[in-house]
Amino acid sequence: MEASHTTERPLRCGVLGCADIAWRRMLPALAAAPGVEPVAVASRDPARAERFAAAFGCGTAGYEELLASSGIDAVYVPLPPLLHAEWVERALRAGKHVLAEKPLTHDPEHTGHLLRLAAERGLVLLENVAFPHHDQHASVRKMLADGVIGEVRDFAAAFTIPPLPEDNMRHRPDVSGGALLDMGLYPVRAALHHLGPDLRVLHAVLRLRAGTGLVVAGRILACTAAGVTADLSFGMEHSYRTSCEFAGSTGRLTLDRAFTPPPDHRPVLRVERQDHREEITLRADDQFANVVRAFERAVRTGSGTGDASESSLRLARLLADVEQKAVLITR
Ligand SMILES: NC(=O)c1ccc[n+]([C@@H]2O[C@H](COP(=O)([O-])OP(=O)(O)OC[C@H]3O[C@@H](n4cnc5c(N)ncnc54)[C@H](OP(=O)(O)O)[C@@H]3O)[C@@H](O)[C@H]2O)c1
Repeated sequence: MEASHTTERPLRCGVLGCADIAWRRMLPALAAAPGVEPVAVASRDPARAERFAAAFGCGTAGYEELLASSGIDAVYVPLPPLLHAEWVERALRAGKHVLAEKPLTHDPEHTGHLLRLAAERGLVLLENVAFPHHDQHASVRKMLADGVIGEVRDFAAAFTIPPLPEDNMRHRPDVSGGALLDMGLYPVRAALHHLGPDLRVLHAVLRLRAGTGLVVAGRILACTAAGVTADLSFGMEHSYRTSCEFAGSTGRLTLDRAFTPPPDHRPVLRVERQDHREEITLRADDQFANVVRAFERAVRTGSGTGDASESSLRLARLLADVEQKAVLITR
């Protein structure tokens, strides 16, 4: 399969792994996209592949078989984080465009290597960080630019989830990068998105699980060159919370459900200033459909993915910085 496409035929996609996120969000988005056709799902377990294939009207294949197929233009990779580097590289070397789950890889060197490999081959490689594709973040940006809370002084973001079953891949050191790469990535990426690329990590605390040594939670202090601070928390031993909050010179702006709003959710922005409280309800938006559209557009037009590659690289470097600077506490 060549790297470029004519516009008429659907973009034929394969899925590497019958993952929960593929079932709940990405296969529905791929199947619903007018210019995209999910052609095959690969699994280590044929029965699981059959269940996914029946639900989404596609075929089944083994992992290697899927990559070798000339009937597939692009692959979606929702494998556990530590397997991304290997399978994204294999997919690119097989000539496929790749939509890869976050984190693109577990370290900045690998991430840079894969982004270069894709560029050299004229292939699209997009990390599936979906929330910046949701309209609500564009609304937040506009309101901040309009000075609704004055000048932004501090930012806080959180992504925390309740404890997961013991058999969840996030407890397995052989395949999971732990909660920093899985959940911590979101508030860090949100700080990059809203505060800009000159963000640097000042300090962090990472809590590790005794026995596995995996990060289960943490808190990060970062700041921009202008001194805007970012207080970022994450973990998988909490109640569920995804939020962004901006403290400005004249008020506060808060967004709940900042990272994982379902497609029918109408986001609510809260603005507080002295003597003024306001809730603004925004329209619903489907960030996963938007990612698929952006991916398809990049493949068809060859116009690239905007600044997505640069953001993936910056994100990977910041996460590596967190690991390097963090105080580690094992419990
Ligand atoms: N973008 C988002 O909003 C979002 C949300 C949630 C998760 N994610 C990301 O998506 C990825 C998958 O997360 P998930 O929660 O969907 O995980 P999951 O349900 O555990 O799915 C991972 C899949 O990888 C396949 N796999 C292949 N080799 C494996 C191995 N050695 N061990 C375990 N699984 C293996 C399995 O499919 P087979 O058994 O069929 O081979 C498994 O179903 C992660 O990178 C995560 O960070 C992204």
